[in-house]
Amino acid sequence: MSADKSTSWSYAEDLPAEDEVLLRARERSFELGVTPIGRGVGAVLTVLAAASKAQTAVEIGTGAGVSGVCLLRGLGPQAVLTTIDVDVEHLKAAREAFHEAGSPANRTRTISGRAGDVLPRLTDAAYDLVFVDGDKPNFPRYVDQAVRLLKSGGLLIVNDALDKDRVSNPAARDATTVVLRQVGKAVRDDDRLASAMLPTGDGLLVAVKK
Ligand SMILES: C[S@@+](CC[C@H](N)C(=O)[O-])C[C@H]1O[C@@H](n2cnc3c(N)ncnc32)[C@H](O)[C@@H]1O
Repeated sequence: MSADKSTSWSYAEDLPAEDEVLLRARERSFELGVTPIGRGVGAVLTVLAAASKAQTAVEIGTGAGVSGVCLLRGLGPQAVLTTIDVDVEHLKAAREAFHEAGSPANRTRTISGRAGDVLPRLTDAAYDLVFVDGDKPNFPRYVDQAVRLLKSGGLLIVNDALDKDRVSNPAARDATTVVLRQVGKAVRDDDRLASAMLPTGDGLLVAVKK
């Protein structure tokens, strides 16, 4: 990559402004040891949620609510975000962030549990958007579930899809990188999906269910 390209990328990542609500949610994330999405990814989530006019969204990996606030800011006023996390302390912090963001409690459904147990209980073809940001070893499973959950025209978004620039390096063979490389190729090759890899953050894989 040219030095100019690298500078442009950093500029684009840092351009989105964040308010006190998101800054406090980031602080809580760091206190809890959670890695939240970056500013660039947050801005993309808000844009995609708004552009898709999603009414029903699912998030896997709530954390302390940074991504949830970004999604809620793009979703319409009647839309509902179902967000799943295995850690109750994370969910508590996220609920605080959603409240501070002015989101009525009935717009978010926070579910405590392992996504692998919760997702199969959600209804087929009932969701407009699924954001995957949980435990990486299970991403292939979550992507399979997401395709089942999405309506036709629904949007799949997978965070960290370039795994800190390791996916593009064929010599990088650690377990997480191998999984994320497979996810990128499986989504690309899935005839039910039209996909694109955005180099935002640590890579944002986006796909529309045809
Ligand atoms: C990277 S953090 C999510 C950050 C959040 N999306 C944000 O940007 O604010 C990953 C989250 O996944 C949760 N997690 C880990 N394993 C999980 C599982 N099996 N099921 C559901 N959530 C899980 C962790 O507790 C953590 O909160």
